[in-house]
Amino acid sequence: MKIIKNGILVTPEGEKKADIGFDLGKILRIGELKPTEYDEVYDATGCYVFPGFIDQHTHLQMNTGTAWTADDFESGTRAAVSGGTTCIVDFATQDRGDTLKTALGTWMKNAEGVSRCNYAFHMAVTDWNEETKAEIEDMIEEGVCSFKVYMAYDNLRLEDAELLKVLKRLAQDNAICGCHCENGPLISDLQKAEIAAGHTGPAAHPISRPAEAEAEAVNRFAYLGELAGAPIYVVHLSSKLGLEEVRAARRRGQTVYAETCPQYLILDDSRYDGADREKSLRGEDFEGAKYVMSPPLRKPSDVKALRDAVLAGEIDAVATDHCSFRFDTQKVLGRDDFRKIPNGAPGIEHRPALMMTSFAEILSMPELNRLLSEGPARLMGMYPRKGALMEGSDADITVWDPEVKWTIRAEKQQQNVDYTPYEGMEMQGQAAMVFVNGNLAAQYGRPLDGIYGCYVARSRK
Ligand code: URP
Ligand code: ZN
Ligand code: ZN
Repeated sequence: MKIIKNGILVTPEGEKKADIGFDLGKILRIGELKPTEYDEVYDATGCYVFPGFIDQHTHLQMNTGTAWTADDFESGTRAAVSGGTTCIVDFATQDRGDTLKTALGTWMKNAEGVSRCNYAFHMAVTDWNEETKAEIEDMIEEGVCSFKVYMAYDNLRLEDAELLKVLKRLAQDNAICGCHCENGPLISDLQKAEIAAGHTGPAAHPISRPAEAEAEAVNRFAYLGELAGAPIYVVHLSSKLGLEEVRAARRRGQTVYAETCPQYLILDDSRYDGADREKSLRGEDFEGAKYVMSPPLRKPSDVKALRDAVLAGEIDAVATDHCSFRFDTQKVLGRDDFRKIPNGAPGIEHRPALMMTSFAEILSMPELNRLLSEGPARLMGMYPRKGALMEGSDADITVWDPEVKWTIRAEKQQQNVDYTPYEGMEMQGQAAMVFVNGNLAAQYGRPLDGIYGCYVARSRK
């Protein structure tokens, strides 16, 4: 048996000093354990012991229409374990005209044999028809119990009537429907207006995607959910206005799960200005392209509203929306037209440290556990197999050393990108030991040899 000794276990009930013993990928015993000569002992003195962190929103090895993400499952999961994440839920995405089965097969093939952390898949439905509808049952059988629909991006979005049908069908199996809530047609028009005004650069990106376009979409999706009698899951919530729509729907009695991301809790829209806002609008300063993601970074008042919502327990999970593109070869595709800048940013490696650092003074360890592990596990139909330190749970364990100070640097990261939105930020705390299915996969920010990730079939029934 492997035993982690002397650590402080983080559980929903609080922190407790206990040892944890595991073997064959499962947690076997929790308590005061006396190792024998056959046991392998890991000392966690001064550290917190968490259920492995779960990132429920990643995009690896995906073509977003303009480019392939820089991270595939090899580099993406290597980065994940290095930062303390032991399981991801990635978005398998249906190609229009193709089946869900094909999409799932592609993502399975991409992940199998190369993933250093565990992986599960949401299914993004982009083509709703009778065949797709019939395939939902197959997806549920394959362990896919969360889906995503888009209200933005012309190659991905569904019409409202289709969204309603998806919601109704998923509700039959208590599967959860996530939604990219932005009003796509409105955004396309606002983008054209920016281009016509000569604003071809990154600073035009947030102007063309105002918070109102998110709030309107959250409102619409919530009402569609009500009409369908289905719970809804708002992914990557970014704005105060959007949050207010989540609250309004909840007040009406609607079940709304809300996810936000570190970028919306830490960064703001001043990043789009680069060194000179006017130049960034005209595309002469291109630094802001690093932050071109959708929804965009928002005003400091939005950041504050979302942080307050995190503190108030209104956010169910903090995930990354990791969707990485290199700055030197990929973001530059939109040098002359911000609409062509591949949307997305890296984060899979740094989410735990960012959250632990940014919320250290204001959230307890169990609260951080709820946002980074337990909450995602519950919402994604993995609890208590994952997201819990319990006898019988999977031995996905992150030992967190709160004393380590380090600095985020692109040159040191595992993510396959030439920048990070968090360059130069000082971090307090690091994943000292990361166990995936009972195997030590990373130590202090460095991956170890070994591919231990497995597919996680899930159910919300
Ligand atoms: O800009 C982003 N977030 N790209 C990833 C796709 C998505 O909308 O989640
Ligand atoms: Zn999205
Ligand atoms: Zn996403």
